[in-house]
Amino acid sequence: MTTVHLEERHQDAAGFVKPSPQALVRCEGLEKWYGGVHALKAVDFHAEPGEIVGLVGDNGAGKSTLIKLLSGVHRPDSGRIFIEGKEVALTSPKAAMALGIETIYQYTAMVPAMSIARNMFIGREPLKWSLLGLGWMDGRAMAETAIRSLTNIDLRTRSPDTPVEELSGGQRQAVAIARAMYFKSKMLILDEPTNHLSVKETNKVLDYVQELKGQGITSIFISHNLHHVHPIADRIVAMARGEKIADVRKSDISLEEMTEMIV
Ligand SMILES: Nc1ncnc2c1ncn2[C@@H]1O[C@H](COP(=O)(O)OP(=O)(O)OP(=O)(O)O)[C@@H](O)[C@H]1O
Ligand SMILES: [Mg+2]
Repeated sequence: MTTVHLEERHQDAAGFVKPSPQALVRCEGLEKWYGGVHALKAVDFHAEPGEIVGLVGDNGAGKSTLIKLLSGVHRPDSGRIFIEGKEVALTSPKAAMALGIETIYQYTAMVPAMSIARNMFIGREPLKWSLLGLGWMDGRAMAETAIRSLTNIDLRTRSPDTPVEELSGGQRQAVAIARAMYFKSKMLILDEPTNHLSVKETNKVLDYVQELKGQGITSIFISHNLHHVHPIADRIVAMARGEKIADVRKSDISLEEMTEMIV
């Protein structure tokens, strides 16, 4: 009886976990077509403050499409997105960032030839002002902030002037995470952050995400690999062929049960 009660409280009719009234982000009925491809089919999704949501599913399931709607890269064909209870129109990545949503894309959105410091501030460079009211980039402020932020995440051996192309995949992820921490994001989305990373680098990224959780920052962690997601996630959302097929609290399901469910 107790189980039934609990389920009634946090699951909807389809057996999916329901958002709380405090949800940081909540989407209803998201639809997305790419020409003739129906990439998202009436997808509901949410994330609570400080929650780590693992988003899993096969190639082409719609994971990246969902996060592109959440990060302002694409607009949904229909459906609604709410941030802290307020409906929003995420018309550009900049608009999403202004609302505290920071994304590390599957194909990382950094400029390889530019320095760590420049990449940290891309599109949000601090300016110095002259008497004529002209602004120019404050390189020193960027370098100093970059050093501080990188020290926080253990990349202290590298000068902020190092071009990003000289960094390993894991170190690039670290710069993106430092950026999210510095700009005090509310939510960090990581699309396949552990692809092409060594085991050590992967563990480091997983540690960072948990550190962010300690600071109350929400993360959405996308992976094909349930084994990467399961250890750190509070909840796991699975997609297949554009639909959400599972949305469960990790405490309610074992890794084995989860694996069976999504294959
Ligand atoms: N820009 C695009 N133009 C046309 N079709 C697209 C585009 N982006 C994605 N798709 C299609 O939409 C569907 C969902 O793709 P999406 O990238 O969201 O999947 P995914 O779950 O992230 O897959 P993967 O695990 O391979 O990254 C796929 O059928 C894909 O081919
Ligand atoms: Mg993808």
